[in-house]
Amino acid sequence: MFKKQNQFFHPSFQKIAHRGAAGICPENTMIAFERALQLGADMIELDIQLTKDQQIVVIHDATIDRTTNGTGKVSDYTYEELCQFDAGSWFSKTFQGEKIPLLKDVLDKFYNQLGILIELKKPEKNPGIESLLNSLLMPYSTDSIIIQSFNLDSLRKIKKLMPSVKIAVLVNYPLQIKDIKRIAQEFEYVSLKWTMVNKKVMSALKQAQLRTIIWTINTKKQLDSVRCWDIDAIVTDHLQLLAKSKE
Ligand code: G3P
Ligand code: CA
Repeated sequence: MFKKQNQFFHPSFQKIAHRGAAGICPENTMIAFERALQLGADMIELDIQLTKDQQIVVIHDATIDRTTNGTGKVSDYTYEELCQFDAGSWFSKTFQGEKIPLLKDVLDKFYNQLGILIELKKPEKNPGIESLLNSLLMPYSTDSIIIQSFNLDSLRKIKKLMPSVKIAVLVNYPLQIKDIKRIAQEFEYVSLKWTMVNKKVMSALKQAQLRTIIWTINTKKQLDSVRCWDIDAIVTDHLQLLAKSKE
């Protein structure tokens, strides 16, 4: 029988740095991933999109407007063209000169040191991204990689191309028992928005032997609302919050 854990027992969960150490650095940049490593993250979370020349880049939005000094769609620029934009100054002048990274460069620098949670961001708007990701990941061991998306069709494509890679279904809606059973037939993880955590869902996930990632926990109150459950990983912008929770 699945039980809520004793409130005095701090469960051990993996600390996942959301878009890198996004609370203190410009999200989805090399410096954000470097800082996450320094702050003791177990994994980094990042978002991927395709450029005009079919390169996989690390950026959350479909446009570069919010996180660079440029404007326009990611898919309207080649990677070389994207490199002219500054992806650091919008956050703080200190980070001037940061670029939108290639996924390959992030993997080459970090996959030996950190787990990597790769989110296929709106894959329906990035046709072919699954097979390009498969080709890109071929030289790497996928043991420490998890791929997540809200798009089930895209995750099914990934599963077919890479049967051994671990997959997380992103969920931001109230999960029904039948959804949980269906997900468990195909995938390994549910990546659940923290507001959707409750006893019924957590018990059913456990019973279905699905592993759980909870996102995005950024305050002590949010952490306190989920920490009693047997969860595998927590995604945060503020790694210090999770470090303190284990003291
Ligand atoms: O890891 C979950 C989280 O990244 C999903 O939301 O918008 O930050 O990509 P978002
Ligand atoms: Ca994400």
